[in-house]
Amino acid sequence: MKKDLLKLLDLTREDIHEILDTADQMKFSQKHHIAHDHLKGKTLAMIFEKNSTRTRVSFEVGMYQLGGHALFLSGKESQIGRGEPVEDTARVLARYCDGIMIRTFAQAEVEGLAQKASIPVINGLTDFAHPCQVLADLMTVREKMTRLEGLKLAFVGDGNNMANSLIVGGLKCGMDVSVACPEGYDPDPAVLDFAKTVTDRKFELVRAPADAVVNADVVITDVWASMGQEEERAIRAKAFAGYCIDEGLMKLTHPGCMVQHCLPAHKGEEISAEVFEAHADEIFEEAENRLHAQKAVLYLLMKD
Ligand code: CP
Ligand code: NVA
Repeated sequence: MKKDLLKLLDLTREDIHEILDTADQMKFSQKHHIAHDHLKGKTLAMIFEKNSTRTRVSFEVGMYQLGGHALFLSGKESQIGRGEPVEDTARVLARYCDGIMIRTFAQAEVEGLAQKASIPVINGLTDFAHPCQVLADLMTVREKMTRLEGLKLAFVGDGNNMANSLIVGGLKCGMDVSVACPEGYDPDPAVLDFAKTVTDRKFELVRAPADAVVNADVVITDVWASMGQEEERAIRAKAFAGYCIDEGLMKLTHPGCMVQHCLPAHKGEEISAEVFEAHADEIFEEAENRLHAQKAVLYLLMKD
Protein backbone atom coordinates (compact mmCIF):
# COMPACT_ATOMS: atom_id res chain seq x y z
CA MET A 1 0.00 0.00 0.00
CA LYS A 2 1.06 3.57 -0.64
CA LYS A 3 1.26 6.18 2.14
CA ASP A 4 -2.12 7.73 1.21
CA LEU A 5 -5.55 6.84 -0.18
CA LEU A 6 -6.20 9.64 -2.68
CA LYS A 7 -7.96 7.82 -5.54
CA LEU A 8 -8.50 4.22 -6.66
CA LEU A 9 -6.34 4.86 -9.73
CA ASP A 10 -3.34 4.73 -7.35
CA LEU A 11 -4.23 1.26 -6.01
CA THR A 12 -3.45 -2.14 -7.46
CA ARG A 13 -6.03 -4.93 -7.58
CA GLU A 14 -4.08 -6.56 -4.71
CA ASP A 15 -4.27 -3.36 -2.62
CA ILE A 16 -8.06 -3.28 -3.08
CA HIS A 17 -8.39 -6.94 -2.12
CA GLU A 18 -6.20 -6.38 0.94
CA ILE A 19 -8.50 -3.54 2.04
CA LEU A 20 -11.67 -5.59 1.39
CA ASP A 21 -10.32 -8.65 3.23
CA THR A 22 -9.27 -6.47 6.18
CA ALA A 23 -12.69 -4.78 6.11
CA ASP A 24 -14.41 -8.18 6.37
CA GLN A 25 -12.20 -8.98 9.39
CA MET A 26 -13.00 -5.61 10.98
CA LYS A 27 -16.73 -6.29 10.55
CA PHE A 28 -16.38 -9.78 12.04
CA SER A 29 -14.41 -8.45 15.02
CA GLN A 30 -16.90 -5.72 15.72
CA LYS A 31 -19.94 -8.01 15.40
CA HIS A 32 -18.33 -10.62 17.70
CA HIS A 33 -16.99 -8.11 20.24
CA ILE A 34 -13.38 -9.09 19.52
CA ALA A 35 -10.98 -6.35 20.60
CA HIS A 36 -9.34 -4.58 17.64
CA ASP A 37 -7.90 -1.44 19.19
CA HIS A 38 -4.95 -1.41 16.78
CA LEU A 39 -4.70 2.40 16.68
CA LYS A 40 -4.52 3.07 20.42
CA GLY A 41 -3.28 6.58 21.12
CA LYS A 42 -3.50 7.69 17.47
CA THR A 43 -5.40 10.72 16.22
CA LEU A 44 -7.07 11.40 12.88
CA ALA A 45 -7.74 15.00 11.82
CA MET A 46 -10.89 15.26 9.67
CA ILE A 47 -11.12 18.35 7.45
CA PHE A 48 -14.56 19.00 5.95
CA GLU A 49 -15.03 21.71 3.33
CA LYS A 50 -18.37 20.14 2.31
CA ASN A 51 -21.29 18.69 4.26
CA SER A 52 -21.34 15.10 5.48
CA THR A 53 -23.29 12.67 7.63
CA ARG A 54 -21.97 9.18 6.84
CA THR A 55 -18.31 10.04 6.23
CA ARG A 56 -17.97 12.12 9.36
CA VAL A 57 -19.75 9.68 11.65
CA SER A 58 -18.16 6.52 10.25
CA PHE A 59 -14.61 7.91 10.43
CA GLU A 60 -15.14 9.25 13.94
CA VAL A 61 -16.75 6.04 15.22
CA GLY A 62 -14.18 3.97 13.33
CA MET A 63 -11.25 5.70 15.02
CA TYR A 64 -12.94 5.26 18.40
CA GLN A 65 -13.49 1.55 17.81
CA LEU A 66 -9.81 1.20 16.79
CA GLY A 67 -8.81 2.72 20.14
CA GLY A 68 -7.87 6.11 18.69
CA HIS A 69 -9.43 9.53 18.42
CA ALA A 70 -10.79 11.69 15.60
CA LEU A 71 -11.17 15.44 15.53
CA PHE A 72 -13.46 17.44 13.30
CA LEU A 73 -12.12 20.53 11.54
CA SER A 74 -14.64 22.53 9.60
CA GLY A 75 -13.15 24.25 6.59
CA LYS A 76 -15.11 27.38 7.43
CA GLU A 77 -14.20 27.58 11.11
CA SER A 78 -10.53 26.66 10.81
CA GLN A 79 -7.88 28.92 9.28
CA ILE A 80 -8.31 26.98 6.02
CA GLY A 81 -11.50 28.98 5.49
CA ARG A 82 -9.46 32.18 5.85
CA GLY A 83 -6.99 31.09 3.19
CA GLU A 84 -4.14 29.43 5.11
CA PRO A 85 -2.37 27.38 2.43
CA VAL A 86 -3.06 23.69 2.46
CA GLU A 87 0.66 22.87 2.46
CA ASP A 88 1.13 24.83 5.70
CA THR A 89 -1.92 23.19 7.27
CA ALA A 90 -0.50 19.78 6.32
CA ARG A 91 2.82 20.48 7.97
CA VAL A 92 1.11 21.67 11.17
CA LEU A 93 -1.34 18.76 11.40
CA ALA A 94 1.49 16.27 10.85
CA ARG A 95 3.04 17.55 14.11
CA TYR A 96 -0.10 16.78 16.17
CA CYS A 97 -1.87 13.93 14.39
CA ASP A 98 -1.19 10.53 12.83
CA GLY A 99 -3.47 10.84 9.80
CA ILE A 100 -5.63 13.31 7.89
CA MET A 101 -8.99 12.69 6.24
CA ILE A 102 -10.13 15.49 3.95
CA ARG A 103 -13.36 16.21 2.06
CA THR A 104 -13.03 19.09 -0.36
CA PHE A 105 -13.60 20.28 -3.93
CA ALA A 106 -10.42 19.99 -6.01
CA GLN A 107 -8.54 16.70 -6.20
CA ALA A 108 -5.36 18.80 -6.59
CA GLU A 109 -5.85 20.12 -3.05
CA VAL A 110 -5.84 16.59 -1.62
CA GLU A 111 -2.84 15.58 -3.73
CA GLY A 112 -1.00 18.72 -2.57
CA LEU A 113 -1.82 18.01 1.05
CA ALA A 114 -0.52 14.44 0.73
CA GLN A 115 2.70 15.64 -0.86
CA LYS A 116 3.44 18.01 2.00
CA ALA A 117 2.16 15.89 4.89
CA SER A 118 4.50 13.27 6.33
CA ILE A 119 1.43 11.40 7.64
CA PRO A 120 -1.19 9.43 5.64
CA VAL A 121 -3.90 11.43 3.85
CA ILE A 122 -7.29 9.89 3.02
CA ASN A 123 -9.68 11.34 0.44
CA GLY A 124 -13.13 11.59 2.01
CA LEU A 125 -14.61 12.88 -1.31
CA THR A 126 -13.53 15.39 -3.91
CA ASP A 127 -15.24 16.51 -7.11
CA PHE A 128 -13.13 13.84 -8.85
CA ALA A 129 -13.29 10.80 -6.58
CA HIS A 130 -14.98 9.09 -3.64
CA PRO A 131 -12.67 6.13 -3.02
CA CYS A 132 -13.86 5.27 0.51
CA GLN A 133 -17.45 5.02 -0.69
CA VAL A 134 -16.56 2.75 -3.58
CA LEU A 135 -14.49 0.46 -1.33
CA ALA A 136 -17.64 0.08 0.80
CA ASP A 137 -19.72 -0.58 -2.33
CA LEU A 138 -17.30 -3.28 -3.53
CA MET A 139 -17.31 -4.82 -0.07
CA THR A 140 -21.13 -4.91 -0.04
CA VAL A 141 -21.39 -6.46 -3.51
CA ARG A 142 -18.75 -9.07 -2.70
CA GLU A 143 -20.50 -9.88 0.58
CA LYS A 144 -23.84 -10.58 -1.14
CA MET A 145 -22.61 -12.04 -4.44
CA THR A 146 -19.55 -13.80 -2.90
CA ARG A 147 -17.31 -12.50 -5.71
CA LEU A 148 -16.68 -9.44 -7.88
CA GLU A 149 -14.85 -10.97 -10.83
CA GLY A 150 -17.07 -11.50 -13.86
CA LEU A 151 -20.04 -9.50 -12.51
CA LYS A 152 -21.55 -6.61 -14.47
CA LEU A 153 -21.77 -3.22 -12.75
CA ALA A 154 -24.04 -0.59 -14.33
CA PHE A 155 -23.96 3.07 -13.32
CA VAL A 156 -26.74 5.40 -14.45
CA GLY A 157 -26.46 9.17 -13.98
CA ASP A 158 -23.85 11.89 -13.74
CA GLY A 159 -20.23 11.12 -14.67
CA ASN A 160 -19.23 12.45 -11.25
CA ASN A 161 -16.94 11.42 -8.37
CA MET A 162 -18.96 8.23 -7.82
CA ALA A 163 -18.98 7.25 -11.49
CA ASN A 164 -15.22 7.92 -11.73
CA SER A 165 -14.39 5.78 -8.70
CA LEU A 166 -16.82 2.98 -9.62
CA ILE A 167 -15.36 2.64 -13.11
CA VAL A 168 -11.83 2.35 -11.74
CA GLY A 169 -12.74 0.15 -8.75
CA GLY A 170 -15.04 -2.12 -10.75
CA LEU A 171 -12.57 -2.68 -13.59
CA LYS A 172 -9.64 -3.20 -11.22
CA CYS A 173 -11.65 -5.89 -9.43
CA GLY A 174 -12.46 -7.74 -12.66
CA MET A 175 -16.01 -6.49 -13.20
CA ASP A 176 -17.54 -5.42 -16.50
CA VAL A 177 -18.64 -1.78 -16.21
CA SER A 178 -21.37 -0.08 -18.20
CA VAL A 179 -22.13 3.62 -17.66
CA ALA A 180 -25.08 5.65 -18.98
CA CYS A 181 -24.66 9.44 -18.83
CA PRO A 182 -26.34 12.22 -20.80
CA GLU A 183 -24.09 13.94 -23.32
CA GLY A 184 -21.99 16.63 -21.63
CA TYR A 185 -21.92 14.75 -18.30
CA ASP A 186 -19.32 12.09 -19.05
CA PRO A 187 -16.85 10.71 -16.49
CA ASP A 188 -13.44 12.36 -16.17
CA PRO A 189 -11.14 11.92 -19.21
CA ALA A 190 -8.40 10.44 -16.99
CA VAL A 191 -10.83 7.71 -15.96
CA LEU A 192 -11.93 7.05 -19.54
CA ASP A 193 -8.25 6.82 -20.52
CA PHE A 194 -7.69 4.29 -17.75
CA ALA A 195 -10.70 2.25 -18.92
CA LYS A 196 -9.14 2.08 -22.41
CA THR A 197 -6.05 0.39 -20.95
CA VAL A 198 -8.11 -2.43 -19.42
CA THR A 199 -8.17 -5.28 -21.89
CA ASP A 200 -9.45 -8.22 -19.82
CA ARG A 201 -12.82 -6.61 -18.96
CA LYS A 202 -15.54 -4.83 -20.89
CA PHE A 203 -16.20 -1.10 -20.40
CA GLU A 204 -18.85 0.87 -22.23
CA LEU A 205 -20.18 4.42 -22.04
CA VAL A 206 -23.70 4.70 -23.46
CA ARG A 207 -26.43 7.32 -23.49
CA ALA A 208 -29.56 5.23 -22.81
CA PRO A 209 -29.96 3.89 -19.24
CA ALA A 210 -31.67 0.77 -20.64
CA ASP A 211 -28.55 -0.08 -22.65
CA ALA A 212 -26.35 0.13 -19.55
CA VAL A 213 -28.45 -1.99 -17.19
CA VAL A 214 -29.13 -4.99 -19.47
CA ASN A 215 -28.07 -8.15 -17.56
CA ALA A 216 -26.44 -6.09 -14.80
CA ASP A 217 -25.66 -7.79 -11.47
CA VAL A 218 -25.50 -4.46 -9.64
CA VAL A 219 -27.04 -1.14 -10.60
CA ILE A 220 -25.69 2.02 -8.99
CA THR A 221 -26.77 5.63 -9.22
CA ASP A 222 -26.11 8.95 -7.51
CA VAL A 223 -27.63 12.42 -7.32
CA TRP A 224 -27.99 14.53 -10.46
CA ALA A 225 -26.43 17.58 -8.76
CA SER A 226 -23.49 16.99 -6.44
CA MET A 227 -22.30 19.22 -3.62
CA GLY A 228 -21.07 22.47 -5.11
CA GLN A 229 -23.46 22.19 -8.10
CA GLU A 230 -26.56 23.46 -6.30
CA GLU A 231 -26.97 26.37 -8.73
CA GLU A 232 -27.11 23.96 -11.68
CA ARG A 233 -30.01 21.96 -10.23
CA ALA A 234 -32.66 23.19 -12.69
CA ILE A 235 -30.47 22.69 -15.78
CA ARG A 236 -29.39 19.28 -14.53
CA ALA A 237 -32.98 18.21 -13.78
CA LYS A 238 -33.70 18.71 -17.50
CA ALA A 239 -30.53 17.00 -18.71
CA PHE A 240 -31.06 13.97 -16.44
CA ALA A 241 -34.80 13.46 -17.00
CA GLY A 242 -35.25 9.71 -17.57
CA TYR A 243 -32.00 8.78 -15.81
CA CYS A 244 -33.96 7.15 -13.01
CA ILE A 245 -33.55 3.60 -11.68
CA ASP A 246 -37.16 2.46 -11.67
CA GLU A 247 -38.98 -0.85 -11.90
CA GLY A 248 -38.97 -0.72 -15.70
CA LEU A 249 -35.16 -0.52 -15.81
CA MET A 250 -34.78 -3.18 -13.11
CA LYS A 251 -36.75 -5.62 -15.28
CA LEU A 252 -33.85 -5.57 -17.77
CA THR A 253 -31.24 -6.61 -15.22
CA HIS A 254 -29.99 -10.06 -14.25
CA PRO A 255 -32.27 -11.86 -11.74
CA GLY A 256 -31.12 -11.05 -8.19
CA CYS A 257 -29.55 -7.76 -9.31
CA MET A 258 -28.45 -5.53 -6.42
CA VAL A 259 -28.96 -1.78 -6.14
CA GLN A 260 -26.46 0.52 -4.46
CA HIS A 261 -26.70 4.24 -3.69
CA CYS A 262 -24.07 6.14 -1.72
CA LEU A 263 -26.76 8.40 -0.19
CA PRO A 264 -28.22 10.90 0.32
CA ALA A 265 -30.84 9.89 -2.29
CA HIS A 266 -33.34 12.08 -4.09
CA LYS A 267 -36.21 9.65 -4.53
CA GLY A 268 -38.22 10.32 -7.68
CA GLU A 269 -35.11 11.76 -9.37
CA GLU A 270 -32.21 9.31 -9.84
CA ILE A 271 -34.08 6.41 -8.16
CA SER A 272 -37.77 5.65 -7.68
CA ALA A 273 -39.08 5.27 -4.14
CA GLU A 274 -40.25 1.72 -5.02
CA VAL A 275 -36.81 0.54 -6.15
CA PHE A 276 -35.14 2.29 -3.21
CA GLU A 277 -37.40 0.55 -0.68
CA ALA A 278 -37.17 -2.82 -2.43
CA HIS A 279 -33.35 -2.62 -2.09
CA ALA A 280 -33.17 -0.69 1.19
CA ASP A 281 -31.40 -3.55 3.01
CA GLU A 282 -28.57 -3.53 0.44
CA ILE A 283 -28.35 0.26 0.43
CA PHE A 284 -28.14 0.56 4.21
CA GLU A 285 -25.69 -2.36 4.42
CA GLU A 286 -23.58 -0.30 2.00
CA ALA A 287 -23.83 2.67 4.36
CA GLU A 288 -22.81 0.44 7.30
CA ASN A 289 -19.88 -0.94 5.35
CA ARG A 290 -18.40 2.58 5.13
CA LEU A 291 -17.43 2.02 8.76
CA HIS A 292 -15.75 -1.34 8.20
CA ALA A 293 -14.02 -0.42 4.94
CA GLN A 294 -12.65 2.81 6.41
CA LYS A 295 -11.45 1.05 9.55
CA ALA A 296 -9.50 -1.23 7.22
CA VAL A 297 -7.99 1.77 5.42
CA LEU A 298 -7.17 3.53 8.71
CA TYR A 299 -5.52 0.39 10.08
CA LEU A 300 -3.50 -0.35 6.93
CA LEU A 301 -2.28 3.25 6.58
CA MET A 302 -1.81 4.24 10.22
CA LYS A 303 -0.59 1.09 11.98
CA ASP A 304 3.05 1.19 13.17
N1 CP B 1 -22.13 8.82 1.00
C1 CP B 1 -21.53 9.81 1.68
O1 CP B 1 -20.37 10.11 1.49
O2 CP B 1 -22.34 10.40 2.60
P1 CP B 1 -22.05 11.74 3.38
O3 CP B 1 -22.04 12.85 2.36
O4 CP B 1 -23.19 11.86 4.35
O5 CP B 1 -20.74 11.65 4.07
N1 NVA C 1 -21.80 12.90 -5.90
C1 NVA C 1 -22.23 13.26 -4.57
C2 NVA C 1 -21.85 12.19 -3.59
C3 NVA C 1 -22.31 12.46 -2.18
C4 NVA C 1 -21.86 11.43 -1.21
C5 NVA C 1 -21.61 14.58 -4.20
O1 NVA C 1 -20.42 14.79 -4.51
O2 NVA C 1 -22.29 15.42 -3.63
